[in-house]
Amino acid sequence: PTHAFSTFYRYLRENFGANAFLHFGMHGALEFMPGKKAGMAETCWPDRLIGDTPNIYLYAANNPSEACLAKRRANAIIVSHLTPPLTSAGLYKGLLELKESLNKWRGMKGSDPAKIDLEKLIVDQAESVDLKTSGSFEELWLKLYETEQALIPDGLHVVGRPLSDQAHKEYLDVIPGLENKENKARVSDLLRRDSELPAILSALEGRYIAPVPGGDLIRSPEILPTGRNMHAFDPFRMPTAFAIEEGRRQTNTLLGTHKKIPHSVAIVLWGSDNIKTDGGSISQAMALMGAKPLFDDHGRLSGAKLISLEELGRPRIDALMTLSGIFRDLLPLQIRMLADAAFKAATANEPVNMNFVRAHSLDIMEELGVPIETAALRVFSNAEGAYGSNVNQLIGSVAWDQEDELADAYEARKSFAYGRNGKCEKHPKLLQLVLEKVDLSYQNLESVELGVTTVDHYFDTLGGISRAVKRAKGKDAPVYIGDQTRGGSKVRTLADQIALETRSRSLNPRWFEPLLDHGYEGVRQIGAQVTNTLGWSATTGQVEPWVYGKLSETFVLDEEMRRRMADLNPAASLRVANRLVEAHDRSYWSPDEHTLEALRESVMEL
Ligand code: BEZ
Ligand code: MG
Repeated sequence: PTHAFSTFYRYLRENFGANAFLHFGMHGALEFMPGKKAGMAETCWPDRLIGDTPNIYLYAANNPSEACLAKRRANAIIVSHLTPPLTSAGLYKGLLELKESLNKWRGMKGSDPAKIDLEKLIVDQAESVDLKTSGSFEELWLKLYETEQALIPDGLHVVGRPLSDQAHKEYLDVIPGLENKENKARVSDLLRRDSELPAILSALEGRYIAPVPGGDLIRSPEILPTGRNMHAFDPFRMPTAFAIEEGRRQTNTLLGTHKKIPHSVAIVLWGSDNIKTDGGSISQAMALMGAKPLFDDHGRLSGAKLISLEELGRPRIDALMTLSGIFRDLLPLQIRMLADAAFKAATANEPVNMNFVRAHSLDIMEELGVPIETAALRVFSNAEGAYGSNVNQLIGSVAWDQEDELADAYEARKSFAYGRNGKCEKHPKLLQLVLEKVDLSYQNLESVELGVTTVDHYFDTLGGISRAVKRAKGKDAPVYIGDQTRGGSKVRTLADQIALETRSRSLNPRWFEPLLDHGYEGVRQIGAQVTNTLGWSATTGQVEPWVYGKLSETFVLDEEMRRRMADLNPAASLRVANRLVEAHDRSYWSPDEHTLEALRESVMEL
């Protein structure tokens, strides 16, 4: 912690004499300060900063992983809060006009002479909203449909303010399993109840806050009522049989999307999605390698076992598993299981053309002159006590020059290999060799609230590894997102995911108007969206240039919008304009002279 940070907590404790701290999540910095992952000692910063002052932490109900960390490292009592209400993205402006034309076209007879003119119009309209047609209007129709139906957050949640009738109704519409009337009435009732402010007061009075699992409301209505103390999971039983089956299916969906069997996949694993799915993502990694969890006689997780090649029906795929620091802290048994799976695959007596884990491990053994135990290490994360890859910090503070610096930061932070004993060692050379083999990178998206362009963590983790892969290979490898936000799984290319979020969120009045209603914070979130978009360009190059053009039109070149945003939050507005100029300077798009001039002028003006 900086001097100021440390002094602030000390002042609150000793001079101000606070009886309790109220942290408003997520997430703070206190619980991420250096130290052990649990059982803080006098050398651990979270404990030194907060001492014995009670820590009441209002926290998003959909983030149990970081909430657990706050409990373990900063003595927090969690008071869960709802995430923003959800709504369907709908269509607007040119997208709406295009849909009308397509509707008309679908209803026309093949012989209708007007059809040719309409088709020309559709091509023009599609082009004006930057939708590629590739000749198929059906495909265009599906893209539009996907955008229209996408769920997006509707502004922000305000503690103590009841949901509007409309938000309340829309919630009930999108939560599955409410066909049963009684069930629906119960959830409806709970959604109306203000349970969060009373819980904060209760905690301040030193009363008991009842426990609750974390989750996303649209998949787990049992998180209601909020205002409860989130807990995580039973670590010995994860992954569950259900998660293993889901993970296997999702891995098959990924392999089906990529078409060609990859030899190696870089898969990013977070704590939150695993906790909410009882180990769905780790099961995907296990499925790639053709492995299953091994449970002991008491039903407790004790390692991994291989599925036979006959049962697997394809080669074992090598998996480079990169863990968030949060995963590393919360799931030590699962780390051992993943490392065990990689080791068992590497040492299986199988032909190398059917076992890419073994093939690669044998190569690495020879190249580095290391034992197989080392060559088979595939679980990488931060050093103990450290979180994140710092790629988001570099992008956020514009503190980088060449894209390869982002790969440097990523590798410096994430080159700690975790073995079967759960211990880590720094292995940068090994990481290099494993990166070289990667054919594609992948991460799951788990919450409607947070898209890949909403928070900077996705490009910090998936973007970071993709950049590192690109540098190690000397060429791009595809990047995919597994969208599990509404259950099941849909795999998209990262470029498609970014385009979808840009259309359904960033450029969509139904997304930004409710945010603007929240004033300062709303503009900050819009600004973050632009920064995160740039983060994806920098790390993966998977942002189509039109995205920047349309962001400029919507938020900077529109005089009235620019003024509104500047009034509400001048710093964030300036950042938006600066980012768009920065994106040009870094050749992520090429605006015409006139647009560029207008952007530069607005920077001066702001
Ligand atoms: C995690 O749960 O692992 C995680 C959550 C937020 C940001 C990064 C990682
Ligand atoms: Mg952060």
